[in-house]
Amino acid sequence: MTFRQKHLLGIEPLHPEEIRSLLDLADRYADQNRSGGPVEPVLTGLTQVNMFFESSTRTQASFELAGKRLGATVMNMAMQASSIKKGETLIDTALTLNAMHPDLLVVRHPHSGAVNLLAEKVNCAVLNAGDGRHEHPTQALLDALTIRRAKGRLHRLTVAICGDIAHSRVARSNIILLGKMENRIRLIGPPTLIPAGAADWGVEVYGDMAEGLKDADVVMMLRLQKERMDGAFIPSEREYFHRFGLDVEKLAHAKPDAIVMHPGPMNRGVEIDGTLADDINRSHIQEQVEMGVAVRMAAMELLARNRVAAPREVWV
Ligand code: NCD
Repeated sequence: MTFRQKHLLGIEPLHPEEIRSLLDLADRYADQNRSGGPVEPVLTGLTQVNMFFESSTRTQASFELAGKRLGATVMNMAMQASSIKKGETLIDTALTLNAMHPDLLVVRHPHSGAVNLLAEKVNCAVLNAGDGRHEHPTQALLDALTIRRAKGRLHRLTVAICGDIAHSRVARSNIILLGKMENRIRLIGPPTLIPAGAADWGVEVYGDMAEGLKDADVVMMLRLQKERMDGAFIPSEREYFHRFGLDVEKLAHAKPDAIVMHPGPMNRGVEIDGTLADDINRSHIQEQVEMGVAVRMAAMELLARNRVAAPREVWV
């Protein structure tokens, strides 16, 4: 098994072989989770702390479930009620937690780079559960596993990522991962939601769904990240749905067997038609959630293995 990382802070530092190893292990966990069979509790005796400084439904729940399924002691820190509110800095909070000797620290934070900073200050494995608009590595990995299971491969596919690319850490991590695995990536959205310089990322950029979706194998929709927008980026939600919302008519431009994905939470009738999102013949949205647990089990197992080999020391 090739996986040499001490932390999982982003997709950027991962070698394609490490991505493959993690997905292979997650694939086995996905089958085990589905069959309901026993799972070896490889995290028994380890403590996992979840620190979510931003709201989350599926990511936090699946990290918790993944840790518990593997036998870890899991603690969810209520960050809204924590000393952060009393003015404690992120680093002080990290050092306090570090003194409790967690083995795995799962962190979501609204600021890009905050999780990397934290990882420098603690002596346990840190998993990034999303930092600002920077990275969301476990989301990209669960998306990759969903694609690989649906398409039978994770290379030479045409993947269209549509909507609010500019504010999306999901898009960023997916672009990096899918690029490393040699796929053709298309970004589709209004110019206001495509980051400046996107054309230099080795992707194709489109302002029109019909053109961008042509012959796509995978159609990945994104939520409008209003919480990260200062000002208006679209004329109206109605107009946005008309031009960029995925419905059956627009999907018809993609390959007949193209799959539809969305990381959630979804705004039905804004970026995606509700009926299409629920169409089990096209939509893999529920499978993405299912793969999320398996990918997080695999990620925590691999980091826990690497952690055992490392000496216990405090890096301050
Ligand atoms: C994403 C996130 O938080 O970045 N959601 C998720 O983790 N499933 C995408 C989003 O919030 O739109």
